Amino acid sequence: MTQIAVGYKDKTDIDLAKKIAHQWQLNYIGDVASVDQQSDLLFLLQVHFQHVELIKLDEPKLGAIKVDFVDGAVAHRRKFGGGRGQDIAKAIGLKHGFTPHVLDATAGLGRDSFVLASLGCKVTMMERMPIVAALLENGLARAKLNQDITDITDRMSLIYASSIDDMTLATAPDVIYLDPMYPHREKSAAVKKEMRVFQSLVGEDLDADNLLAPALKLAKYRVVVKRPSYAEPLDNKKPSMSISMKKNRFDVYVNQAIPKPTA
Ligand SMILES: C[S@@+](CC[C@H](N)C(=O)[O-])C[C@H]1O[C@@H](n2cnc3c(N)ncnc32)[C@H](O)[C@@H]1O
Repeated sequence: MTQIAVGYKDKTDIDLAKKIAHQWQLNYIGDVASVDQQSDLLFLLQVHFQHVELIKLDEPKLGAIKVDFVDGAVAHRRKFGGGRGQDIAKAIGLKHGFTPHVLDATAGLGRDSFVLASLGCKVTMMERMPIVAALLENGLARAKLNQDITDITDRMSLIYASSIDDMTLATAPDVIYLDPMYPHREKSAAVKKEMRVFQSLVGEDLDADNLLAPALKLAKYRVVVKRPSYAEPLDNKKPSMSISMKKNRFDVYVNQAIPKPTA
């Protein structure tokens, strides 16, 4: 059982830290400076000037992970990325005149969701891990305060649930996007520091094969699965087509053709 607690770094964050602990049913430990290094805590969710960050206590050098749609890597990608020419956009089926409602049923830190929302999609995110949902909710709430990107964040919402059990909580998605954790082959040194914290928190989504059937049932047009290049298809089911990239690929399962643009 992963030992996780919530605390604050600055007294101005006490109320938010308590609220988060209550909402996500996590232990509240008060001032993070009071954490005993000998404790059996593995992860600490710390509130720092209204930002929620996660640190791995036995590897503090890996740094903190947080969801930052305003200044983080996804914000950079929004400004300088490849727009609708990106592989993810092609896989989702973004075309002139077709901007689907996407259910990101394995939302994680919301980076792919933010890219899709930046491209105009309405995105419903679903995440089952309370601690990840807490990071995501805080990142989204802060991003919604930034007027430069409200057109994007207004299109994003979060449902805290397991998409294997409760995918239908999302209303009428056109496209369902799946990016479950996969056993990692890369040497740990090659994996970015923050991803190492994330991987050790989430582990491997060993039940990921069970996502495909409910997704195929619910998606109006298609299901898109992100896989490492070396991985077999999800649930060993051959996709209708694949888009290959350097390290990953998108497997696309077509339920019905995307509507042609109206003149
Ligand atoms: C690889 S991460 C997704 C990364 C995400 N695409 C991004 O851009 O940040 C996988 C996430 O899916 C979540 N997940 C796995 N199975 C799930 C399920 N059945 N329901 C909801 N979330 C799930 C995991 O908890 C984890 O946070």
